[in-house]
Amino acid sequence: MRPIEIADGIYDVGVKDWNIRDFHGYSTHQGTTYNAFLVVDETIALIDTVKKEFADQMLANIAQVIDPRKIDLVVSNHTEMDHSGGLPRVLHRIGEDKPLYCSQMGAKNLKQHFFPSWNYHPVANGEELSLGRRTLTFLETRMLHWPDSMFTYLKEDKILFSSDAFGQHYAGPEKFDDEIGDRIMPHAKKYFANILLLYAAKTLKLLEKVTEMGLEFNMICPDHGVLWRRDIAKILEAYGRWSRQETKNKALVIYDTMWHSTQQMAEAIVAGLAEAGVYALPMDLRRTDRSDVMTEVLDARAVLVGSPTLNNQVFPTVSDFLTYMKGLKPKNRIGAAFGSYGWSGEAVRLISDELNAMKFDLIEPGLRLQYVPDPGGLAACEDFGRKVAAAMAA
Ligand code: FEO
Repeated sequence: MRPIEIADGIYDVGVKDWNIRDFHGYSTHQGTTYNAFLVVDETIALIDTVKKEFADQMLANIAQVIDPRKIDLVVSNHTEMDHSGGLPRVLHRIGEDKPLYCSQMGAKNLKQHFFPSWNYHPVANGEELSLGRRTLTFLETRMLHWPDSMFTYLKEDKILFSSDAFGQHYAGPEKFDDEIGDRIMPHAKKYFANILLLYAAKTLKLLEKVTEMGLEFNMICPDHGVLWRRDIAKILEAYGRWSRQETKNKALVIYDTMWHSTQQMAEAIVAGLAEAGVYALPMDLRRTDRSDVMTEVLDARAVLVGSPTLNNQVFPTVSDFLTYMKGLKPKNRIGAAFGSYGWSGEAVRLISDELNAMKFDLIEPGLRLQYVPDPGGLAACEDFGRKVAAAMAA
């Protein structure tokens, strides 16, 4: 990939990972990018690196702009290895004694990932570093989404290097939001739903702080996906909405099934919800990746979860999803459990317990039907959907 000059003397020297389809359990149907930025000033800075296996590709990109050995310092905004894995290779090439700027927690984390002998320069929140004509300001963003996370702001150019925030797992021919338009928003939403939702309250505080500080942005450059330069207000507005966990008149009916009975129930519940004017979607966990389901959960007011009972337990794919959703802590939701069973039928109670633990407003009792739903059972499912719709409207 050729480096792209995103502003005068500032280059994206990152790489595209076209073929990745599973990013630690997050489905990346269209790959991802690892963005890294070279700021060529009197002092030359490299902001972030890439995954270890792409380090040579990044160095080759840099070499098209300058001899990599001319890099004077490296900034690590975040230790997760999709951005730091290339550090050993880069420092080996440019000189192990080159300063490595990171947050205080970053120094600790990097030492635990790599080698303690690097020339660490831990920075304080708000600390500035002059590159000559330009100044880097380091902004601590602890727990967004790692304890070491920080942003780097280039104040003369008003460019924010935002690490994972505002990112999208997307690899395409486009480099900027104006080249892809609204098609990027589902990717940004998925990223927030699966990576940042747990930290929604912190994200909201950060957005408020940025407004208070009066920071202006000509560009926001995340470490994944396209860079924001036209729709900056749009992504900031979306982050505000997602961080406040605003929901729509939307219900998800998430399920797995063994002999199609729970599936029939799910579809009848969806029909009841739809009849009551709710935008309702069935989502089969055997056919839909958990990260795609979670993306839909982000703005759904009601989350219904259905499972057959298998060996006195919830079906494994449903347990997997419940564990995943619980960790991401969606708030302000209505929840309900349903499922077909053969003889013992514990799944509905077990799901209800989990939804309760997530502090969902539970529709009780959940709906259990034995074996195959007959017309009366399907009518009960439609009623159940209407009952959830009524709770949503209340
Ligand atoms: Fe893209 Fe948290 O790493």
